[in-house]
Amino acid sequence: MDIRAQYAPLRGELDAALAEILDTGAFILGPRVRAIEDAVSKRLENRPCVGVANGTDALVIALQALGVGPGDEVITTPYTFYATAEAIARHGATPVFVDVEPVGACLDPDLIEEKVTEKTKAIIPVHIFGHAAPMTSTLTTAAENGLSVIEDAAQAFGSADGEWPVGTMGDIATISFFPTKNFPGIGDGGMVVCSDPDLGATVKRLRFHGSEDKVIFTEVGYNSRLDEIQAAAVNIFLPHVDDWNDRRRQVADWYREAGLGQYVTLPEERDGVRHIYHLYVVRHPERDRLRELLVEDGIGAAVYYGTPMHLQPVFSGLGYSKGDLPVAEQWADTGLALPMHPNLTREQVDEVVAAVGRAVERI
Ligand SMILES: Cc1ncc(COP(=O)(O)O)c(C=O)c1O
Repeated sequence: MDIRAQYAPLRGELDAALAEILDTGAFILGPRVRAIEDAVSKRLENRPCVGVANGTDALVIALQALGVGPGDEVITTPYTFYATAEAIARHGATPVFVDVEPVGACLDPDLIEEKVTEKTKAIIPVHIFGHAAPMTSTLTTAAENGLSVIEDAAQAFGSADGEWPVGTMGDIATISFFPTKNFPGIGDGGMVVCSDPDLGATVKRLRFHGSEDKVIFTEVGYNSRLDEIQAAAVNIFLPHVDDWNDRRRQVADWYREAGLGQYVTLPEERDGVRHIYHLYVVRHPERDRLRELLVEDGIGAAVYYGTPMHLQPVFSGLGYSKGDLPVAEQWADTGLALPMHPNLTREQVDEVVAAVGRAVERI
């Protein structure tokens, strides 16, 4: 990642927006928050959008808006950032981990039905690394069993499953503007995308202490507001996200053309999916050694996510063991993220591929 290179051409716009915010003194839930809510809504079939403090709060608030509470079960993927599962447990509900499909490492829709019980309330597929989860059969299973669906879109703004953009398929979708995300801010921020106005109104109340007017309080909510500085940055970045995503896809093509596939297993796209490569995760059986050698050689390489959720200490009480969810475990044992950002050049890609070749020879 090279965050500064990405926003360097927009620095003048950012400086001007910050100066204007300081001049006006409108810091919280002001015109820029409304502007980014409207702009994202326009991109996502006019769904009501509500800015919140971060992508984790977006999930916590989404679950509450859909009525998830103590004793409920929520089906999700074990191969995700902890926030997805944490948000479920935060409500006293139980995350039920279902294995991932082998192509995109997203929640496997064919394995969901057998885990549905009378306690199941919702399903959270995660569009992991920028690859849209297989939504069609997930939505069918949800509809047949009366379950809500929350798309965790923290890593995949601009990706699509067939003709359906990420964020338009579930009852709710959640976005993170964490600065390393493919649709970033310049600090913490997030958004909840709702499928109908009632849900939008509930989420709006929940982000502000369960109140519509700051006088009457109808729910136990949160103080989870998007601030104007973040909203200003996200407004400036939104028109560039498609271009950045295209450039990420170009980098992925270059990796392939440069022969990276001789050394490691390359990420793939399921038929019809538009992968936007929030992360470029390859696989190799000697992943840890490969990472060490690359880092020694000055190439950034990182592991996302080495311990899947069902094997995390916090969930040891749920009774999972190693071997229970083999596809997720295989990704966790072998996945390695290589350099990926919109400003990578073909020369840098060639350099990375040469370094991977040298490292693999030494393993
Ligand atoms: C899949 C996923 N869900 C949720 C989150 C939480 O977002 P935030 O860091 O904005 O709270 C992240 C961010 O790392 C994420 O990758």
